[in-house]
Amino acid sequence: MASSDKVKSHKRLRDFSADEVVDHRRKEDLYLVIHGKVYDVTSFVDQHPGGQEVLVDQGGVDATEAFEEVGHSEDAREQLAELIVGNLSRQTGDEKLLASSGSAYKIYHKEPQISALPTWIKTMLVLIVAITVFFGWHFLLP
Ligand code: HEM
Repeated sequence: MASSDKVKSHKRLRDFSADEVVDHRRKEDLYLVIHGKVYDVTSFVDQHPGGQEVLVDQGGVDATEAFEEVGHSEDAREQLAELIVGNLSRQTGDEKLLASSGSAYKIYHKEPQISALPTWIKTMLVLIVAITVFFGWHFLLP
């Protein structure tokens, strides 16, 4: 039986926009895109042999590259057929929206960037410590 025949017959596939897919990025409601197909991995996330973290990290994004980089077996590819819920209907700009990385997703959505502020704060802290040590050395030591 070809793997596509294993898609459960009662399952109705539909088209998803990138916006819709991106909305399903939580562990308890987790979709990802592989080769243009949309998969609902919510029920599978706890059973994934590669761990749940990698799947949650790819939640709501295009995980094709990540999936292929691991070199998943035929068995893994057959499991995909059980999880498919539809096709991604592509629009201009989707690449950015579905960028395959948790961090790329955050950048696109302008979620707080913890890297920018701490760098600035760290520089200030280093300066404050340096100044304190300098003056402490000069005025407190005999
Ligand atoms: C619905 C999609 C996925 C399915 C059905 C799936 C299934 C599997 C299966 C069955 C294995 C065991 C090894 C094998 O048979 O290849 C596995 C391992 C693994 N998967 Fe996935 N996987 C999926 C998505 C992903 C994604 C998006 C990543 C992201 C990086 C990932 C990362 C891994 C890793 C790191 C391992 C462990 C590899 C090892 O220990 O050699 N998987 N996966």
